[in-house]
Amino acid sequence: MAENLNFDTLNTPGAVFFIFGATGDLAKRKLFPAIYSLYREGKLSEDFAVIGVARRPRTQDEFRQDVYSSIQEFGRYRSDLNAEWDAFAQHFEYKSLDINDIDGFRELREQTEQLEAKYEIPGNRLFYLALAPELFGSVSFNLMKGGMLDGAGWNRLVIEKPFGYDLESAAKLNEEINQVFKEEEIYRIDHYLGKEMVQNIEVIRFANAFFEPLWNNKHIANVQITLSETVGVEERGGYYDHAGALRDMGQNHMLQMLTMIAMEPPSRLLPEDIRDEKVKVLRSLRPYASSEEVADHVVRAQYTKGSNGSKELPAYREEDKVNPESNTETYFAARLFVDNFRWAGVPFYIRTGKRLPVKTTEVVVEFKRMPGNVYLGQKHSLEPNLLVIRVNPMEGLYVKINAKKPGSESEIEPVAMDFCQSCLVGINSPEAYERLIHDAARGDHTYFTRWDEVATAWSFVDKIAQSWRDNQGPLENYPAGSWGPQQADALLEKDGFHWWPVNGQDEDKVIWTKS
Ligand code: BG6
Repeated sequence: MAENLNFDTLNTPGAVFFIFGATGDLAKRKLFPAIYSLYREGKLSEDFAVIGVARRPRTQDEFRQDVYSSIQEFGRYRSDLNAEWDAFAQHFEYKSLDINDIDGFRELREQTEQLEAKYEIPGNRLFYLALAPELFGSVSFNLMKGGMLDGAGWNRLVIEKPFGYDLESAAKLNEEINQVFKEEEIYRIDHYLGKEMVQNIEVIRFANAFFEPLWNNKHIANVQITLSETVGVEERGGYYDHAGALRDMGQNHMLQMLTMIAMEPPSRLLPEDIRDEKVKVLRSLRPYASSEEVADHVVRAQYTKGSNGSKELPAYREEDKVNPESNTETYFAARLFVDNFRWAGVPFYIRTGKRLPVKTTEVVVEFKRMPGNVYLGQKHSLEPNLLVIRVNPMEGLYVKINAKKPGSESEIEPVAMDFCQSCLVGINSPEAYERLIHDAARGDHTYFTRWDEVATAWSFVDKIAQSWRDNQGPLENYPAGSWGPQQADALLEKDGFHWWPVNGQDEDKVIWTKS
């Protein structure tokens, strides 16, 4: 059926959007502003309604006021909100619900049917669970019991990470959800897949004659993915101390970006074909055979007291809700191999950490040095060509090439050919959540993770976690505000490489359009 679907031209059908966890942080910061942006851009059908669901009692007016404030604070189109507000607000209702109370779900069903009649919505229901994952199973079950899935249209379940703690718990969670929802009804969010530049990787690769022919181990020396954050664990110490950087960022965002870089061209640009290729990359990841190998390829570290230049920063162990003797990693770096014909022998280096000096997400593809360059190579130490994809917060890309230094007879210097997307689109680049909610409403699964992707990523990550649990490999330290432990540099040095400076780092001398 999906054979000829073109999602770009597919209209969003009328639907009721249920936001479970409507009084929470995600709804406030991301979901309500995203729904408003979609409405403002005409991407939502006129026949839509949103029901906010949470335990807390709230009148309809109070709830609408919450939605208003959230858009005022976080929305991209906050400036014209007042003009649009009355028409927009009437689509919003609230239901106070204890998620264990089936009668509450039955009342929700009545409320839904009334709204569907009022807006002539054809029974399509999208359930967004902005809730702790422990609740996904019981909410799904009660939706079914309460008759919420008996509408005349489709049902879709949108869920947030973390999807499990390891393969075993993820499989259990999946099984619970599968008792109610089929795989094709489930939309697992990895918000990195909603980011413009992550989606752009596919286009950059497959739409440009000068990248795809070189996209292999004959021409690429290594790939580096950095996801650095300046924040610590904020008020999420309880969750984070249990999860750590590997589970919080590695199992999902980092491996997902790696699959976008490494996947084969799909047979068609359709969701399942693309996801098939991504899962093949995950299956090709070389598993670490022993704890020694993990220690050799993966560095973990935790931040100690430090400073960001203007402010003293506490050690991780002093953060709120963190065990003062915690051995949780706030940083990890790893050297991975994708064992297939395209990538055999090319290391993929990934690193992420909290309390690093800059917030940035960047992918660097380092090309091999030109072989046998007797003419220029003898006189000059030529730098390798780089393709740098800037994902976040700056969006864009540049290609680093060697060129003659202007005015000099023979000097060669690296220069950048850049495309600064942020400079063109500015703050109006659509938020990841806008794209993802829009896609889920249209039934496009491309940028959601399928169960086999999640499971394969867990089985890779579990080996590392298991080895750490057995206390194999040291937990290094790095001062808050620094670039992480020296051991992460050593990972590349033994292959003759180094981390390229990322945007905002002092040594980043590359020309990058700033305005
Ligand atoms: C989340 C992690 O998934 O991604 C957070 O749980 C992290 O710990 C966040 O801060 C980073 O997302 P972004 O879009 O700000 O880079």
